[in-house]
Amino acid sequence: MSAHASSSVTPVFDRSKVTVIFVLGGPGAGKGTQCANLVQDFGFCHLSAGDLLRAEQNREGSQYGEMIRTYIREGQIVPMEVTIKLLENAMRAALDEKRTGAGWEDGRGRFLIDGFPRKMDQAVKFDEEVCTSSLVLFFTTTEEEMLKRLLKRGETSGREDDNEESIKKRFRVYNEQTMPVIEHFNKQHKVASVDATATIEEVHQKAKSVIEKLFAGEISQNVTV
Ligand code: C5P
Ligand code: MG
Repeated sequence: MSAHASSSVTPVFDRSKVTVIFVLGGPGAGKGTQCANLVQDFGFCHLSAGDLLRAEQNREGSQYGEMIRTYIREGQIVPMEVTIKLLENAMRAALDEKRTGAGWEDGRGRFLIDGFPRKMDQAVKFDEEVCTSSLVLFFTTTEEEMLKRLLKRGETSGREDDNEESIKKRFRVYNEQTMPVIEHFNKQHKVASVDATATIEEVHQKAKSVIEKLFAGEISQNVTV
């Protein structure tokens, strides 16, 4: 397809049936932890881009395994085609399961997409071609706090990037490549910022209130809680 035709592409999933919430925040902001809580509250399917990439990296026969390993160790963003395909496949698999419960009736679905989009090209392509997102749930805290959490997690996570050298690189990539994504969605009035410095339960209650408002149709501009 020619480049200029891409803006007329219809997304794979219809946003009137499939709700996509992007979950962003620096490394160690608590995205995964809070997503697990929101799954309990609202029956979301939680897809972590990082987890999907690590699974693909470890999948026997994957042609991308070594490439993914190198990018992750360096804290760099894996080329978007790979990540977007993994997400699209996982979304289709969840919809094909024909789950029951609120938000999953009649081919509907609700997804928390965690750690994505980390870079502008991913944001634009996913919204245009996979599913237009409804909200960005943005967890904010200081680098000092994130560093502390990641070093603690590194004691047991076994992750090749939870060491001080990789963490510093991840912070730099986050500031240079992911912050412009937040700006992009700010302009679309789709960002709900949650201060993630407090306790897990306090942050959970704030995040929960945001999602309740979203489902009640009460979010039409950027909010901060
Ligand atoms: O989100 P998480 O911390 O698990 O991501 C780990 C790494 O996976 C990132 O530092 C990056 O190398 C890679 N990643 C990516 N694109 C994404 C999400 C994660 O390249 N959208
Ligand atoms: Mg995570």
